[in-house]
Amino acid sequence: MDWGMKNRLSRIIKPKDKRTVMLAVDHGYFMGPTSGLENIKTMVDPLLRYADTLMLTRGALRNYIDPEQQIPIVLRVSGGTSIINEDHLLHEGTVVSVEDAIRLNVSGVAFSILVGQPFERDTILGMTEYIDTCERYGIPVLAVTAVGRGLGKDVKYLSLASRMAAELGAHIVKTYYCDGFEKVVETCPVPIVIAGGKKQPEKDALQMAFDAIQAGAIGVDMGRNIFQSSSPVGMMKAVNAIVHKRYTVKEAYDLFESDHIKN
Ligand code: R5P
Repeated sequence: MDWGMKNRLSRIIKPKDKRTVMLAVDHGYFMGPTSGLENIKTMVDPLLRYADTLMLTRGALRNYIDPEQQIPIVLRVSGGTSIINEDHLLHEGTVVSVEDAIRLNVSGVAFSILVGQPFERDTILGMTEYIDTCERYGIPVLAVTAVGRGLGKDVKYLSLASRMAAELGAHIVKTYYCDGFEKVVETCPVPIVIAGGKKQPEKDALQMAFDAIQAGAIGVDMGRNIFQSSSPVGMMKAVNAIVHKRYTVKEAYDLFESDHIKN
């Protein structure tokens, strides 16, 4: 691995503990003005000091984030379908060139694959082509193992998708937490982060983050469970404490609640 690739990876995965808290606010690329992200700048500005990385789209970066901002960026580079077209949901291809990603000075890029759908080949070859170009410039690729309609978020499916993503060249894999998650981690040769998924009660989301870390995930790439929380700052702090400070779920929830009371 060359210096540039290592350097960018170290901006995403913190060298002090090899963990990461990624704040995901890229939902608009297929969901439009998602609840909580009507104005991304207002939402993320107070959260950034507790995040290691910000994951978002090119348009959100240009329009909502100050160029002076030092947070490492993981740019969403796949897309092409909307939440309305259910038959083709997540039938994604490249929506940002590697050159533009470099121009935006990103630390990494995120590309979704959808294993198990009739169009799986399109998404997988789209990702591998993108990885080939990124290798040329030393840019890490985070593979997002999307889960489509009728596909279970279970250990068998998520191990398959995560291992495939890693073997096909992804440098980090983002997947979902499931029962038996240790197996997903053990059989995937690159670091794994978990997505948060739909909003759930704060304590449950913290428990999920805790369990994922215990099972070997290196962190989270979490969105709705933070920005749709009754206290996004409190939730961000609590997730950060679980990932980096080894807080228990109770300690993290107390931190969330104390911030909630303050505000
Ligand atoms: C989906 O593929 C998007 O990339 C989201 O960023 C990702 O799912 C993480 O967000 P959430 O925690 O809201 O699921």
